[in-house]
This record gives sequence, structure tokens and C-alpha cells, in this order.
Amino acid sequence: MENDIQEIILTEEQIRTKVAELGEQITKDYAGKDLVIICILKGATPFMADLIREIKIHLTIDFMAVSSYGASTKSSGVVKIIKDLDSGIENKDVLIIEDIVDSGLTLKYLLENLKTRGANSIKVCTLLEKKERRTINVVADYKGYNVPNEFVVGYGLDYDGKYRNLPYIGILKPEIYS
Ligand code: IMP
Ligand code: MG
Repeated sequence: MENDIQEIILTEEQIRTKVAELGEQITKDYAGKDLVIICILKGATPFMADLIREIKIHLTIDFMAVSSYGASTKSSGVVKIIKDLDSGIENKDVLIIEDIVDSGLTLKYLLENLKTRGANSIKVCTLLEKKERRTINVVADYKGYNVPNEFVVGYGLDYDGKYRNLPYIGILKPEIYS
């Protein structure tokens, strides 16, 4: 598995530092609010699990799964809800947790969908973004790192369902998917 990685771009240490910073900021911003964390399956699970332990206020978690990629490294352009939230979000302060914002298509769809459900506020926290590739005008409120225009895996990010268990984030060797 590790042999398929061309280069590590974010180490465990760098990820840990950033997650702690984000958690501290979220703790401050959401003090006194009714925070619901929405983890976007499956990629955001390690990030969400680490991040919530850095948020020092009451919160609840819920999960949503959407599909946009399948077993490819390019977006299909189609976003579909595979699993919806278990609970309503009326009057809640919602924070969507994403692994990466690439074209922005998935996030735009999610925001449009969730905005119809009566939340008090909806914000987005993404660990990674690929600014270069943004084709849709959406911005995350909390961002970890910008990554180069390469296909990255690890710490939740997958290629064909694999590599999510790598503790760091690395560029996948192109020969693996070409
Ligand atoms: P977007 O809709 O193009 O912004 O893509 C968002 C989704 O595509 C993310 O939630 C990821 O699941 C996936 N994705 C985009 N870029 C990468 C990457 O470099 N590695 C792994 N997954 C990616
Ligand atoms: Mg994904």
C-alpha cells in the first residue's frame, strides 16, 4: 500500500496541528450554540473523529453520504444522496465536515439541499481544498490545507475505496489509476 504513494504531502504531525487549530477556532465560534456536526461519508470520517475531540463544547453528530465520483479520479458531475441525516436540523447550527473540496460540485449540492431544512446556520469545514480546480463558486468557512492539483489519498481520502487508512496524505502514483 505505502509503495503506491509518490510523495507524502501532509504528515501525521501537520494534520494533527491543523486539526487542533481548527477545533480551537470552532470551539470559540460556536460557544453557546446548538452545534450539529455533519460528517460527509466516507472520506471525512477520520478528520471528523479527530476534530470533534478538539471541540470543547456540547455537540451532536450525524452522517450523510453522497456520491459523485465512483471508481474514477474525475467527477461524474452527478451528485446523489446515498444516505440522508437521521435527524432534522431545524434551528440547529450546522457544521458540515468534508475531506476535500475539489471542483466544489459536491459542496454546492449539499449546501443547496441542507439550506431547505430550516437550520439556524450552515457552515463548512474542509480539511483540504484544491483551489486550482474550483469550477463552482463555493467557499468553506474553515479550511485546513490547500493541496496541489494531484490525486491525493490517505486520512480518509480514497482511490477506489482504498488508502483511507493511511495516517498521512500523499500523492498517489499516476500509474495506479492510469
Ligand atoms: P468535488 O465535488 O469535485 O468538489 O469533489 C469532492 C469529492 O471528490 C470529495 O469529497 C472527495 O471524495 C473526492 N475527491 C476530490 N479530489 C480528490 C482527491 O484528490 N483524492 C481523493 N478524493 C478526491
Ligand atoms: Mg470521496
